[in-house]
Amino acid sequence: MIKYIIHGGKPLNGRVVISGAKNAAVAILPATLLVDGVCKIENVPDISDVRLLLEILAHMGAKIRRLSPNELEIDCTRVHDGVAPMELVRRFRASYYLIGAQLGRFRHAQVALPGGCNFGPRPIDQHIKGFLAMGADVSQEGNFVYATAPENGLRGGRVNLDVVSVGATMNIMIGAVLANGTTIIENAAKEPHIVDLANFLNTMGAKISGAGTDVIKVRGVRSLRGGFYSIIPDQIEAGTYMAAAAAAGGDILVQNVIPKHMDCISAKLREMGAVVTEYDDAIRVEKVRRLRRAGVKTMPYPGFPTDMQPQIGVCMALAKGTSVITEGIYDTRFRYCAELNRMGASIQVDTKMAVIEGVEELHGCIVKACDLRAGAAMVIAGLAADGETTVEDAHYIERGYECFIDKLTALGADIRRIETPDRAKAENAG
Ligand code: EPU
Repeated sequence: MIKYIIHGGKPLNGRVVISGAKNAAVAILPATLLVDGVCKIENVPDISDVRLLLEILAHMGAKIRRLSPNELEIDCTRVHDGVAPMELVRRFRASYYLIGAQLGRFRHAQVALPGGCNFGPRPIDQHIKGFLAMGADVSQEGNFVYATAPENGLRGGRVNLDVVSVGATMNIMIGAVLANGTTIIENAAKEPHIVDLANFLNTMGAKISGAGTDVIKVRGVRSLRGGFYSIIPDQIEAGTYMAAAAAAGGDILVQNVIPKHMDCISAKLREMGAVVTEYDDAIRVEKVRRLRRAGVKTMPYPGFPTDMQPQIGVCMALAKGTSVITEGIYDTRFRYCAELNRMGASIQVDTKMAVIEGVEELHGCIVKACDLRAGAAMVIAGLAADGETTVEDAHYIERGYECFIDKLTALGADIRRIETPDRAKAENAG
């Protein structure tokens, strides 16, 4: 049980360096299963999702060396045809990338999927549609997916995604890299981490073109070789610090970012009255006045990311006027609003829409992190609020934010982490 205690009301000042992108890393690491040779990967975020994934790969026989906190050497040359251990895979939301990777490497896959997450069901029918188009036989029994490629391996296919899915686009790319023939993914997602995965695979010898557009072409190759790759900075981590400065006040320089990836977050914060200045690989955010209202609709990239919705929601809770958020990706991603209301916010939620009447102040109290980004939003609210805020279930936050406490403390926040033994687990162990 991890909780964060925050004494709010202190502006953030100084510099923060952004880590490698979680959602790129959780696809690139399973994709190393396809590589015959050593992959040296830099800028790997040291977060709990990545640590879990490395445990899974090690269990499958990968040789992993940590060269520095964010630099890994992974050698999957001798991985065996192992099934990833269920108790690890179930704790890992993006376990689905192991399907594409195992299919490509072993011609069959057996992967346990996590249950529905905290913001609604997360089907993988589009991933399955892709593998079927490449000739695989796929079945889903309970929380397990079983997939088998034809005897000679997957073959190229044409997949038109019914919904723009980040996970399906990347999973199909991973499966297609060593397939016989060419795979075309239409209506593909365009997020920066999709381009990053394609760049990683191409560095190792794949032939992928079109990543970053809605049509991706993967020409299958016989094998991938080892090489060196550096993961892009995390768009959402950067956006979270930007929103924190806009909500709590201050003047921060967010370093190691790709400003282009931040365009729609920067634009929204400017629209709300923050001063946002772009440099080559950094963004400065200053709060010079009370924020003003805005409207946001979350959409696939290059639209406003759903993973920034709770954080911008906190900015809106403190802005002058009535803001509206429409959630365009998930069925329910507003559970954090009830927690924010307990801190004095005034938010009404109607399924996929939240109407936020801005208030002048929030007040510290005990709140829960409902999921990773909702947890980050609670921390931002705590930084902006008067008094003491306790964010419970903060383990969610540690799935995706490297050194969150240290980075915020360096910016002047008063935040500490308390870990106590999980009573339920201790009782079970006993
Ligand atoms: N969908 C389907 N069928 C599918 C796949 C997706 O109907 O087969 C639907 C989903 O239910 C959702 C929409 O399509 O409504 C988009 O889902 P997508 O597949 O794009 O999401 P994902 O790949 O499961 C990734 C990120 C999420 C992020 C979404 C959207 C990873 C590991 N996760 O999830 O990140 O919210 O894309 O950008 O890359 C987070 O980092 O906090 C996080 C939740």
